[in-house]
Amino acid sequence: MSNESLANLMSEERSFPPPPALAAEANVTASAYEAAAEDRTAFWAEQARRLSWSTEPTETLDWSNPPFAKWFADGRLNVAYNCVDRHVEAGHGDRVALHFEGEPGDSRTLTYAELQREVSRAANALTELGVATGDRVAVYLPMIPEAVITMLACARIGAPHSVVFGGFSADALATRIQDADARVVVTSDGGYRRGKPSALKPAVDEALTRPGTENIRNVLVVRRTGEETAWTEGRDLWWHDVVGRQSDEHTPEAFDAEHPLYILYTSGTTGKPKGILHTSGGYLTQAAWTHHAVFDLKPESDVYWCTADVGWVTGHSYIVYGPLANGATQVLYEGTPDTPHHGRWWEIVQKYGVTLLYTAPTAIRACMKWGDEIPAKFDLSSLRVLGSVGEPINPEAWMWYREHIGGNRAPVVDTWWQTETGAMMISPLPGVTAAKPGSAQVPLPGIAATVVDDDANPVPDGGGGYLVLTEPWPSMLRTIWGDDQRFLDTYWSRFPGRYFAGDGAKKDKDGDIWLLGRVDDVMLVSGHNISTTEVESALVSHPKVAEAAVVGATDPQTTQAICAFVILRGTASEDEGLVEELRAHVGKQLGAIAKPKRILPVAELPKTRSGKIMRRLLRDVAEQRELGDVTTLTDSSVMDLIQRKLPDAS
Ligand code: WT7
Repeated sequence: MSNESLANLMSEERSFPPPPALAAEANVTASAYEAAAEDRTAFWAEQARRLSWSTEPTETLDWSNPPFAKWFADGRLNVAYNCVDRHVEAGHGDRVALHFEGEPGDSRTLTYAELQREVSRAANALTELGVATGDRVAVYLPMIPEAVITMLACARIGAPHSVVFGGFSADALATRIQDADARVVVTSDGGYRRGKPSALKPAVDEALTRPGTENIRNVLVVRRTGEETAWTEGRDLWWHDVVGRQSDEHTPEAFDAEHPLYILYTSGTTGKPKGILHTSGGYLTQAAWTHHAVFDLKPESDVYWCTADVGWVTGHSYIVYGPLANGATQVLYEGTPDTPHHGRWWEIVQKYGVTLLYTAPTAIRACMKWGDEIPAKFDLSSLRVLGSVGEPINPEAWMWYREHIGGNRAPVVDTWWQTETGAMMISPLPGVTAAKPGSAQVPLPGIAATVVDDDANPVPDGGGGYLVLTEPWPSMLRTIWGDDQRFLDTYWSRFPGRYFAGDGAKKDKDGDIWLLGRVDDVMLVSGHNISTTEVESALVSHPKVAEAAVVGATDPQTTQAICAFVILRGTASEDEGLVEELRAHVGKQLGAIAKPKRILPVAELPKTRSGKIMRRLLRDVAEQRELGDVTTLTDSSVMDLIQRKLPDAS
């Protein structure tokens, strides 16, 4: 991919300055960029003082053995104390930490004082089960308060957790238990999903029949659904028995800043999952500071809600560690956005007066598809900052979010980061940045990112290439669990001395960064590199298109041909002229080179459980190959539906 060839096709001219009232009271102002530019490490040393340390660090960054970083290495702290106890000690014990909303409509409120007692009990229980500092604990739970409590209890006793998303299979769970060599699994009988109890425990039972899981001594089971559950005497224990009988007092011990906090697996396209290792002091510093800065959190008055699952890094950094370190009040919701009706999320915003909302483009596009009249039925006037994460957000989805959810008032912050980066890296600041629909724009204060060409030269404004991070940051992954070599090969070998994120990006004429998707998703058409994201955004900007996925299929004439799969909006029909109309629309937006050769209307798109489109499978369809691995799909029947449509397409 050469620098001029990663086509910089789309031009987006809209821009929205921060609301003056928000800017006037903002937690973080433009001076943060200046301070960080003057002395990056001093800037982070100052943010680390937001935490309570039992031994204050005197060192900031140790980069003597790159890329193995140490941050605040001589400092000691307890992460759970920072997220819970210190707020109680500061007199905020009565503040709500979690407003839990179950899918069936049950709810439960936990104040910081109650959370302190629950976390203490759970920490005592894990200790009774023989979990020692450094032992790994696997967590396989639905979105219930016990998920948060368990993670904090692990942090409290220095036992790294490995949370496995509850939608993953027994196989995926077994691989992760083996790789981390976990000692205990915390799970539940099940959770509620789309109006029905959905069992979890059977997957644990099955996983524990696999070789390599023998070191699991106990399975601690939360009763959530009350459905009947198979039981292995001696191994399986009810949470309410073991945790219930513990003392609600527990003295937190301080650990080194570099003590491992958790392992979280990312799947990637090839090879076995990578166990991303995060540690304590630097991670918590950046998670807490970015949450304070990017959401402009005012803990006394805001109600924050992140719709992610705790099984993803977004749930780790922006449900558990960042918000709780900041003493936030937040909503925790168990279920899906469309159960029992399409307005469920907006009903929750209205019920709790949510002020700060963090969600993903895939969910925003689904809500767009369901229709503008649904959010219009609810009072969303409490919302004051809207966040997006997970994929590039198409400008039209961004505009819809701002208008229909944010009432043309709340700024949208598009936050770029990864499991590996641990916390947000590139994002507007809501009180500072004039926001552009579809762009994550600027590295946060203290973060150094740029876009380089094949030869590692930074591209000029207007150019495109690869996103790299050029300086270490506090919440960076420390390694891949048990595989330093893979850590070096995956992230540090493509551009020596720089972290290769795997994303394509461009810089616009103002130097703002636009993310273009994973580099594997860039297409080569007649000698031009074209980003799937840009063609998708052009399609979504057509009033008849709700969602689009674009792939490059091998083509004898043009190397690759652009093949688009589109979901039409509610009322649009698949009439004859539609395909031509859409091709012409893309041509007009991006230029003739970007016109899809084929456009296929479909009912659904294949997505991973975290909502990312699996373009690899669509490429298999477009190239009429047998499908690759479909095990991480949310719903594998989607692919049958798509393949059945194929003969019509040309
Ligand atoms: C990949 C990381 C970060 C938490 C959720 C995903 C894509 C993420 C954005 C954004 C464009 C984005 C990138 C990145 N991504 N946020 N705002 N704009 N792309 O974590 O599963 O580790 O995925 O998600 O491709 O590399 P993850």
